[in-house]
Formats: sequence, structure tokens, C-alpha cells
Amino acid sequence: FLRAAKGLGQAARAMGRAMSIAAVPERKVAILGAAGGIGQPLALLMKMNPACTELALYDIANMPGVAADVSHVNTRAQVKAYSGDELKECLSGADVVVIPAGVPRKPGMTRQDLFKVNAGIVKSLVEEIAKTCPTACINMISNPVNSTVPIAAEILKRHNVYDKRKLMGVTTLDVVRAKTFYAERMGLNIGEVDVPVVGGHAGITILPLWSQATPSSEILKDDVEQLTKRTQDGGTEVVQAKAGKGSATLSMAYAGALFADACLRGLNGQKSVIECSYVESTACPGVDYFSTKVRLGANGVEEIYPIGDINEYEKEALDSMVPELNASIETGVKFAAENK
Ligand code: NAD
Ligand code: LMR
Repeated sequence: FLRAAKGLGQAARAMGRAMSIAAVPERKVAILGAAGGIGQPLALLMKMNPACTELALYDIANMPGVAADVSHVNTRAQVKAYSGDELKECLSGADVVVIPAGVPRKPGMTRQDLFKVNAGIVKSLVEEIAKTCPTACINMISNPVNSTVPIAAEILKRHNVYDKRKLMGVTTLDVVRAKTFYAERMGLNIGEVDVPVVGGHAGITILPLWSQATPSSEILKDDVEQLTKRTQDGGTEVVQAKAGKGSATLSMAYAGALFADACLRGLNGQKSVIECSYVESTACPGVDYFSTKVRLGANGVEEIYPIGDINEYEKEALDSMVPELNASIETGVKFAAENK
């Protein structure tokens, strides 16, 4: 009897496992630039995500080795490597396309200094997305995000496949940093902390809203200034510490995996999936692309939340970022118009 009961228990558990796996829809995630500093740990984190059933990894160099390595991890996602002229196959049927392809900063450079090289890379990749998987959610990581998102939008428009709900600039690392720095400074439990970060993803265009941070905390003016500056310069802090060997890769892979997971959960019908993202938006008057909290769902960005109540310090910071944000957006739009 005991043996029979044990056998039945095992069968029930196996059936439960099979059913819970079957209940999760098939989702293909493509990573472009997957053999790079961000791409490799991001590939590993996506391989560990049960919502990802197919992981398509594309890079112009070193792809087979990285893909073989990550493919040995005993999780559900089937890993395939693509290089050179195999971009179309990589993208075919993708639900989410994450783009960390492009050069990173060296000390002394701004993100906008990367434009010359990365604009062309993003353009060529998005041209193929427009042809092969135009309905996929695009997660743009390549810098300068403030310009690469508008470039991608213009290319998708030219192919008549632009859906603003599907194009998202990844600003999650700014939120990750703001949460870490706020929790540390205020002595709060980091797992409970939330800090919205609005604007864009470069210098003063990154605006953490401490007035909306939760749990709310009495925060001194000096702390506001220091925490704001540290969040805005978080990328530069890493670039300087790496001293010529690139920019944030591990924390970015973590942030990129969080955002891609949010997109997958939204596509799979989970309710109330909310993240900050840089998207085409009317949240900030006079600016066409802006990051605020958005709700992700079956169609990508289903709802864009307003900036909400902000204090005088935040209002001033918001006004000061507008010219820089607009200049970066214009640079992207102009590049797309001049490079057909
Ligand atoms: P990296 O140089 O380590 O990796 C980039 C990878 O892109 C390389 O493997 C390279 O071969 C590949 N690549 C280049 N051209 C390609 C193409 N046409 N198609 C496919 N792959 C191509 O750089 P990294 O540290 O991984 O950073 C990548 C980008 O992400 C940089 O632009 C960086 O500034 C940006 N970044 C953004 C954030 C953010 O918060 N959004 C954070 C960190 C870094
Ligand atoms: C970051 O914020 O870490 C990235 O945008 C990389 C960089 O150049 O700072």
C-alpha cells in the first residue's frame, strides 16, 4: 500500500509539473548583441526565466561559444545561436527582442558620443525587425537610449509597422540604482522600496522622484541632491571604476532581465505589470518621448501613467531636462531621415 501511495504521489507531482509547464505559453525572446558584456549575463538570466521557451542569441562575433555554454543550463528555454546573415532566422517569431548591441562608453565620454557608431547598428537591426517580427516588443538598451528609441520609431514608421505600444527604451537600471541608493541612505528594507524615475536615460534627463518614493521617508535637502546626482551619474561611476573596460554590464543584465520578464508577464496576461520605460508619450508637455511608469499587457504598453504630483525641486529639474531631451530626440529623428 505504501509503495502504491508513493508511486501515485510521484505520478501526481509529475503531472502537476507537466501541467504547470504546459500552462505557460510558448514565448520566444531574441537578444541582439548577445555575446557582449550585457548580452552574456542577460542570456543566462533569460535562460533561467520559465516564461522564456525559446532563446535566440544573435551577435556578429563569438556567438556559438556563448550559446553552447548557456544551452547546458537545465531549464526549459531552447537556446539557438545566430551570427552574420542569420538575423532573420533569429528574429522569426520573436515575442520580445532585446537590443544591447553596440559600443559602450569609455571614461570621459558621454552616452551621446556613442551615437555615431550605435545609431547605424540600431538602424540595421530594427530594419530587420520591421520586416521579420514587426509585432514583437522591442526592448532598447543600446545607448544613447534618448536617441536610439526615436531612430527605431522612425524606421518602423517607414516600414508602416510602427506601434508605439511595442517600442520601449529600457531605463530600468536607473530605477534599480535609485532603489538601492534610497534604501541604503534611509536605512530601509531594500526589498520594499520603490522609486519612480522619469525623463530619459542620460545625465540630467534621469530624474528620480524621491517625493513619490515608498516607503516615504523624511528626506533632507542635502540627501535629495546627493541621491539625485548619484542616480544621474550611476553609469559614469561604473565607467570610471572599470577604467576603459566598458560600462555597466551585470547590473544592466539584471535590469534588462527584469524588464524583459515584465514584458513577458504582460504578454501572458498577468495584471498590474508596471515598470518605468522611455516610450512615445504625452506625459511631459513639449517632449515626444519620455519615461514614466507604464502598464505592460497583451499589446505591450497598455497605459502610460502621468508624472504625478512632484515638488518644486523636481519641477525645476524637469524643466531643465527638456532642452537636452528634445535635442537627443531630434538627433535620432534626423539621423533616420538622412539614412534611408
Ligand atoms: P559590449 O561591447 O560588451 O557588447 C556589445 C555587443 O554588441 C558585442 O558583442 C558586439 O559584437 C555586438 N554587436 C556590435 N554590432 C552588432 C550588430 N550589428 N549586431 C549584433 N551585435 C552587434 O557592450 P555592452 O557593455 O554589452 O553594452 C552594449 C550597449 O548597451 C552600449 O551601447 C551601452 O552603452 C549600452 N548600455 C545601456 C544601458 C541602459 O541602461 N540602457 C546600460 C548599460 C549599457
Ligand atoms: C548606464 O547607465 O550604466 C549605461 O547607460 C551605460 C553608461 O554608459 O553609463
